[in-house]
Amino acid sequence: MDIASNAAHPEAAPAITAPPVIHREDYRPPEWLVPQIALDFRLGIDATHVTAKLSVTRNPAGEGGSTLRLNGDQIAPLAVRVDGEAVNDWRLDGSDLLVALSGEAHEVEVETAMNPAGNSQLMGLYASNGMLCTQCEAEGFRRITFFPDRPDVLSTYSVRMAGDKAQFPILLSNGNCTATGENADGTHWAQWHDPWPKPSYLFALVAGDLVANHAQFITQSGRKVDLNIWVRAGDEQRTQHAMDSLIASMKWDEQAFGREYDLDLFNVVAVSDFNMGAMENKGLNVFNTRYVLAEPETATDADYDGIESVIGHEYFHNWSGNRVTCRDWFQLSLKEGFTVLRDQLFSADMGSEPVKRIEDVRTLRGGQFPEDSGPLAHPIRPDSYQEISNFYTATVYNKGAEVIRMMRTMAGTERFRQGTDLYFDRHDGEAATCEDFVKAIEQGTGLDLTQFRLWYSQAGTPQVSVSLTHEGDVATLTLAQTVPATPDQADKQPMPIPLRIALYDRDTGCHAGERLIVLDKAKESFAFGGFARLPVLSINRGFSAPVAIEFERDAEDLVFLAARDDDPFARYEAMQSLVVQHLVAAVGGGLADAERAAGRAAIGKAFAAIIADEALDDLMRGELMMLPTVAYLAEQVLVADPYAIHEEREALKHWLGGELASELTALHDRVSAVPYGRDAAARGARKAKAQALILIASGDAAEGAARAIAQYRAADNMTDRQSALTVLCNLEGPERDEALADFHQRYQGNALVIDKWFQLQASCFHPQVLNHVKALAGHPDFTLSNPNRVRALFMSLALNPKGFHDVSGEGYRLIGDLIRRLDPLNPQTTARFVPHLGRWRRIEPVRAAMMRAELEAIMAQGELSRDVREQVGKSLG
Ligand code: ARG
Ligand code: ZN
Repeated sequence: MDIASNAAHPEAAPAITAPPVIHREDYRPPEWLVPQIALDFRLGIDATHVTAKLSVTRNPAGEGGSTLRLNGDQIAPLAVRVDGEAVNDWRLDGSDLLVALSGEAHEVEVETAMNPAGNSQLMGLYASNGMLCTQCEAEGFRRITFFPDRPDVLSTYSVRMAGDKAQFPILLSNGNCTATGENADGTHWAQWHDPWPKPSYLFALVAGDLVANHAQFITQSGRKVDLNIWVRAGDEQRTQHAMDSLIASMKWDEQAFGREYDLDLFNVVAVSDFNMGAMENKGLNVFNTRYVLAEPETATDADYDGIESVIGHEYFHNWSGNRVTCRDWFQLSLKEGFTVLRDQLFSADMGSEPVKRIEDVRTLRGGQFPEDSGPLAHPIRPDSYQEISNFYTATVYNKGAEVIRMMRTMAGTERFRQGTDLYFDRHDGEAATCEDFVKAIEQGTGLDLTQFRLWYSQAGTPQVSVSLTHEGDVATLTLAQTVPATPDQADKQPMPIPLRIALYDRDTGCHAGERLIVLDKAKESFAFGGFARLPVLSINRGFSAPVAIEFERDAEDLVFLAARDDDPFARYEAMQSLVVQHLVAAVGGGLADAERAAGRAAIGKAFAAIIADEALDDLMRGELMMLPTVAYLAEQVLVADPYAIHEEREALKHWLGGELASELTALHDRVSAVPYGRDAAARGARKAKAQALILIASGDAAEGAARAIAQYRAADNMTDRQSALTVLCNLEGPERDEALADFHQRYQGNALVIDKWFQLQASCFHPQVLNHVKALAGHPDFTLSNPNRVRALFMSLALNPKGFHDVSGEGYRLIGDLIRRLDPLNPQTTARFVPHLGRWRRIEPVRAAMMRAELEAIMAQGELSRDVREQVGKSLG
């Protein structure tokens, strides 16, 4: 040990060379375990002092080194003591602290200090709106104190914190509060103890001036749990939906998965500055305010749904994530994929199951399919990473959920439950792997998942090509699968693909029952007898597998299914396919006038049937009226001109709006008469209203403006107000200016609603959208330090086909500039913008060159974060 190195400078120099690559195969058990940790915080907004006392023991399963490695990040050891004595036997290796230890068990004490107000990365301990809070997943705890910051080191935490009583009246940490007290100098303190051993990423601390919405929940075994949702004074009347969702989640997890809560206290805190949605810290969930605060005047129906699902998601992590955690970060989908599936099933049970399924598939196709077909494609269990924050992806979360959902589909709900029961029983208190999960499901359900494990190791969306032939009275379905090559994975093996199918008799319009077939070879045929004519195939019903189906078929069959398929997802899918087939063919003048007219007529007929169908509820009607997004359409071709796709899609909307003008206005009138309510019928009315208004305005701008401004003025809820403003934003004229000015003025001071004001302007199709975005970036309400605000303006732009893909290249430059300016402040939020430029290989050459040049300009900027460097490097690679 080198004593002189004790003076080493705390701040690690930024990496000049490419950061090291971490490989899943290199996993080794920890050398040292930390069964207990005691943390002592002296809190201050710009200076917090931490003393950490770690009781460490040598891990019998480790390789037997005598050096204890404690990870650190931008902190310095102010003092190091071993067994109560100050020692010199330590040194820094990069930002890690290495302490030489002679025995089998020691007490290691380290003091550190940090400036929460200066922490713009929002990882570790930081200040937000005058309060202090933490975000430790994945590797933020090392920014608070030195620690083996890996999920397979589980410790029992005791926390003591002291701070100014006026500034921080509320002091919270994980577990239960065991003691509090006051000091003569105006400070007070609290002590917390969490009886459940946990990894460091689940640690949390909150200190601030907060008020709670309080309730109580009694678990199935009779445990009384105090529930608190903590917010800033004045926000408490906007917390009831979050509280109702929490109570519903707790009840649902007992019934659906047999999981009961395990502490006497459950705290949720809403924080305005947050990189992600929320965090499942044990007994102390920390949330982005946008997933807590809602009232009809300020939150849309979609906002309400988001709160229900994220509250559920974080609560469900208490078992899938906390009681059973991850061995290492490559196993992230073990907790995230499974927990997303759990929150999806929960939301489906709380509302409309078919509509929820459609929304989840739309999310997957909009966010995950593009990831799977681009330079950042990775399996749901990645093999390597440079920065783990970059792997909190739609693949790990949403495709991860689909993979587990397929096991459930193949096993059936009851047998699947036996599998999850076995998993929770067997691994409670452990840090597990995806392999552990699959084994438990295999044993609990009786399925053989040998080949199915490929879903964990192979990236890329499988393409299934379909043909259906007919001879005698036999229909033969031939399916062939290919899994496209992805970075580092050239050759793929066929995977088991469970497909729910039905064959409709053309004459009766009925089918003889749904079946589940599993395609597990490259190519396979399935024969079905008893058909006098070629039947109509309904396939991948309920989206039973996360694959792309390639099936060229007559518009007539799609119109047939869109009007009558008894699987609501398949019905939606038929509608989507009808539009996709038409638009993909039509882009760039690919259709003769007569073909275009025929294609539009088929779509118009299907739309008219949907508007007229009295058996449909309005929620589903609104869903069926949504056209596929430009991103999803662009996915259908190898090289896309997103702008041309956008124009063609708008042209179709214009035609539909004109063709169905009277049906649409009648629908808009009918649903406008439904009074506000949170019930399904009223929510459906608002959804259908929004879709009708969009098409009316596309068909006739003047009629659209008149209806939209009337809807805006009359609105008694945010859903209607926002859907009216969305339409007005696309139009030019005094109504637009009136509504935007009114909206800003009306909601001044309400950050979440001002976010909407930015978002609506940046996502609209106004001819001046890029100039608007530039002006908004200079608006006094804009700030780079709040991730919600940054996303409201710039993520909306990155997702806006018209603005982002403007042929001037200005959209790309605006995102490139943002990346360069934001990276030094907040790498994690910045890195999320890179994939949008990274799609250049799938974009037509003129735009592709500009996108690529933007990435190169970012790379040329010397000091990039590890987050951005990894994403840009892979996107150019
Ligand atoms: N575990 C959290 C969730 O899914 C996400 C936290 C991710 N945080 C991060 N900094 N990458 O609910
Ligand atoms: Zn999660």
